[in-house]
Amino acid sequence: MQQKFKKSYKFAIKTSLYITIFTTLLTSVFLFGFYKVNLLYLIVFFLVTYLFSFMVIQYRVERFIYKRVKKIYDDLTLLESTSITKGTITTDMQTLTEEIDRFARDKKIEIESLKVREQYRREFLGNVSHELKTPLFTVQGYILTLLDGAMDDENLREKYLERASKGIERLGYIVKDLDMITKLEVGDLSLNIEVFDIVELIKGVFEMFEMKAAKKKITLTFDRDYPNPIFVKADKERIQQVLANLIVNSIKYGQEKGTTELSVENLIKNKVIVRVTDNGEGIEKKHLSRLFERFYRVDKSGSRKEGGSGLGLSIVKHIIEAHNERIYVESDFGVGSEFSFTLEKAK
Ligand SMILES: Nc1ncnc2c1ncn2[C@@H]1O[C@H](COP(=O)(O)OP(=O)(O)OP(=O)(O)O)[C@@H](O)[C@H]1O
Ligand SMILES: [Mg+2]
Repeated sequence: MQQKFKKSYKFAIKTSLYITIFTTLLTSVFLFGFYKVNLLYLIVFFLVTYLFSFMVIQYRVERFIYKRVKKIYDDLTLLESTSITKGTITTDMQTLTEEIDRFARDKKIEIESLKVREQYRREFLGNVSHELKTPLFTVQGYILTLLDGAMDDENLREKYLERASKGIERLGYIVKDLDMITKLEVGDLSLNIEVFDIVELIKGVFEMFEMKAAKKKITLTFDRDYPNPIFVKADKERIQQVLANLIVNSIKYGQEKGTTELSVENLIKNKVIVRVTDNGEGIEKKHLSRLFERFYRVDKSGSRKEGGSGLGLSIVKHIIEAHNERIYVESDFGVGSEFSFTLEKAK
């Protein structure tokens, strides 16, 4: 490959100047001994010597540096073809040093981001196996007990089989959630955008979780009457999932006899914002920034009774972002939380 060649003359100019000054002085001393000094002769001598040494030095330096520098370039381009300026080879050391510096800096940044990703991957795998382990061991425990003789007792048999089935169900949910997250992250999940009435959808989700809420005497309600439909443009099924996740959370982390309130408001001219507000346990400030991460739970151990895997909000965020919309959370610890997201209004 013929590469362009950026030259630097500084070195040759200076070196040949020194040599020329020295030889001219030397010559003039010699000449002074024998003849009279001829100024014109000296000037010509100076110029010729200067020109000659400049050319020789420049040529030699170029050959010398070019060979070595080209090798450095070749080695670097072997590693990374994009980060070194393509095409131009330079004998100018400063440019080369700058380029190598930049190269090293880019590499450092790259290595750091790889390390972060690797750490994330390791954490993720750890989380997955941890989440799967708990229900798996539960199921295994019940089945082994049944095999060990509990199956002869008719009461125990039914009870244990039911519990094992619950465990399997839980495993199924986790795998389904993981599958969903993977699809969302790869961008594989195509949205099925349609126009629908968000008020009606919320009513449907209220009905779905009426029983669950009633167990904790939690009221699911709107902030006001919505006599007219509010049409939005989105993937109905996914938005239903978002609402379900947020409402289930508000029940799970809500207080006995609490209230979960839904509201739909106009935001700007073509957007609405849906808010899910509860007066439950609330979330401390320090958790808010990580709340939407996969597997992130505020209470890692204690909330086992509510047995979530911490995937719900991460799915919610992915779905909203796939719609190019935004999700917000506000929470006062001990007072309650409000999750809200925007949607596009249908004309
Ligand atoms: N309305 C809320 N009030 C208080 N804390 C909440 C609320 N919603 C979420 N959280 C906190 O955020 C954490 C993450 O919620 P997320 O929905 O992602 O997971 P999860 O409910 O624990 O499990 P999953 O939804 O996967 O079954 C919860 O563990 C809980 O601590
Ligand atoms: Mg949840």
